[in-house]
Order: sequence, then structure tokens, then C-alpha cells
Amino acid sequence: MEWTRLERLRDLFLRGDKSQDYWRDDGDLAAYDEVFARRIGWKWDSVLRELVSRGYSPGPRHLIDWGCGSGAASRSWLENFAAEGWGAEFWDRSPLARSFASRSARSIEPTLAVSDCVRDPLFGENSKAPESVVLLSHVVNEIPPPELARLLLALGRAAEIIWVEPGSKEESRRLGEIRGKLLATHKVLGPCLHEERCPLLKDGREDDWCHSFSDPPTEAFTTGFWAEASRRLGFDVRSLPFCYIAMRRRDLADAAAREPTVTSGRAGRVLGTPRLSKGFARVQICFEDGKVEDLRLQKRSDKALFKAVEKGLEESPYLALVTEGDEVLSGRRLMDKDEAST
Ligand SMILES: C[S@@+](CC[C@H](N)C(=O)[O-])C[C@H]1O[C@@H](n2cnc3c(N)ncnc32)[C@H](O)[C@@H]1O
Repeated sequence: MEWTRLERLRDLFLRGDKSQDYWRDDGDLAAYDEVFARRIGWKWDSVLRELVSRGYSPGPRHLIDWGCGSGAASRSWLENFAAEGWGAEFWDRSPLARSFASRSARSIEPTLAVSDCVRDPLFGENSKAPESVVLLSHVVNEIPPPELARLLLALGRAAEIIWVEPGSKEESRRLGEIRGKLLATHKVLGPCLHEERCPLLKDGREDDWCHSFSDPPTEAFTTGFWAEASRRLGFDVRSLPFCYIAMRRRDLADAAAREPTVTSGRAGRVLGTPRLSKGFARVQICFEDGKVEDLRLQKRSDKALFKAVEKGLEESPYLALVTEGDEVLSGRRLMDKDEAST
């Protein structure tokens, strides 16, 4: 592993000037692909699993990976959905990245019809954006505001948009603002259960942000490679925070993800990680009516629910809760693996 390449990239991502193309050669992309992109791929796997648990299946048969880098997002996509014979376009300001991502996607799905892009495929009369699922990943803090505004206009035409960012406050709140703008043209597929403006962007919530944690695969805990990567590059291999938005254009939204069936209580999604204390947990829930509440769940109120929260709600962060004031009286999990398969 070429650690010096990765150290350069880490420094650049943390505090460097990202306004110029920083991929120097295929070696940079290959090193990134072995470490940073793998972790990003695990986040994408979580997002796509969550969307599937909400009944999502892709509408379009054409993929655009925008700001593709080495292609982590589209690779996760191709591993999670059958995309035989699909069309695909990989866009990045770096021609090296476009070519790397195209090759790596084809190695997973050889029938993928990849069009070479010399221009941004989201723009122009012949853009396939209206028939595409557009993937964006870990780009929001690299796009200057005027360019972002143009990008959002172009995304307004996209059939579907799935956008994943790190789960840090700055990126998440920025993605929340983007979601707010795209609501004019698109319906929400996830993570929210509502179409309101993100409640965490309201006054008084400046310290909060929508994020989740992905479970890294066993290899992240058991191999020397990941121990060395985390030591050299300074990340916690066990912690994979992310945030995302998934949206479908309103005129196509009939086939949108199913809403949870809740017969008692209110449906909501757990934000961040529950804070556990002896005998109780504090949870922050974003409810289906677009309100965020900070609640306390006592073990003695609902042992089964407490246990699920204590275990980290691995499969699905969606719950139906009966509350009184800021206390959870009872609840159950929604849209977990078992329920999704029935
Ligand atoms: C941190 S990397 C993420 C790559 C990939 N999406 C991933 O998740 O691994 C950001 C990528 O965005 C690209 N990028 C930055 N600004 C861009 C722009 N204005 N237009 C197109 N690509 C851009 C960079 O070249 C880089 O490949």
C-alpha cells in the first residue's frame, strides 16, 4: 500500500485546497480506492439496504455517477442491484477518474453500456438525466456555491438522486439545504418519512445534524491492514458516520417507496446514536410529521424496544413510538429485515 499517497490525500481532504484536480495519476486513484473508497462503499451499502427496506427499487435503467472519483458509489450500486444491460456515465472533472471508475464498474457488471463523457452529462439537450439515477458521493465540500447552484438546477431534471456525504455536521447540514431546494421537483425516498423542510435547520437546532452510522464488515476489525490504515491515516475504523438523501422526481413518484404501516404510535427515524445510561436511553427522533423530538426511553417502559436500541438498531433506524411528553411509553421497530421481506 502506498501510504504516502494516502497521507497526501487525507491532508488534502481535511484542510487542503480542493479547487483544482488533485488526482495526479492512476496510482492515486488506486490507493484511494483501496482505503477511502472502501469505507465510502460500506456507507453506500448501508444506504441502499435502508432504501430497499423501505421498498425502493430503481426506476430508471441508466446510471450517472457524478464526481465519481474511483467509482465507489456506482460499484456499491452495481453490487446491490441487478443492472444487466444498463447504461452508465461517469463524470468527474478529472479524466483519469472518469476512466478509472468506468473500468472498475465494468469489472463488476461487464454488460454495462458505458458512454465516454467529454462533457458533464447532467447538462445539455441530450442529457440522459431525466431517465437516470444520479449518484453523488462525498463531493459537497468540493463544489463552490455558483457551481452548486448550477448543479442543483440540472439535478432538478434527474429521475432519481441518491447523494451520500460524511456524517459530519457541516456536510450534513449542507445536504439538508440541498434537500430543501430539490423538494420543489422531487419527492423524498429516504431517510426522512416526511416532505417538510429539514427540522434540524430550524432556529434553535444549530447544534444538531441528521446522520447515521454504518456497521463496517468484520474485516475492518480483524485484519492488520485496517488496523494499519486507521493508525496511519488517523480514522476510527469502527465508526462510519454518514448522511444521505434519496429523491425521485415528482412526476415519477407514484412508484415511490412505501410508507410504513403504523397502527399505533407515530413513525419516526432515529438520528445519530442513542445515548445509553443505566436503565434508560436518550434518543433523538425525526417523526413523520416533520418534527424532531429528544426523548427518553426507560428500560422498564418497553424492554424489547430498549434491547433493540441498545443493540444499535442494526437493520433499520425506523421506529413506531407511543410517547407522552418526552417519555417513550412503548414502541416497535419498523421496516427491519424481517418486516421488509413479508
Ligand atoms: C472526495 S472525492 C469522492 C469521489 C467519489 N465520489 C467517492 O465517493 O469516492 C471527490 C471527487 O469529486 C471530483 N470533483 C470535485 N469538484 C468537481 C467538479 N466541479 N466537477 C466534477 N467533479 C468534481 C473530484 O475530482 C473527486 O474525484
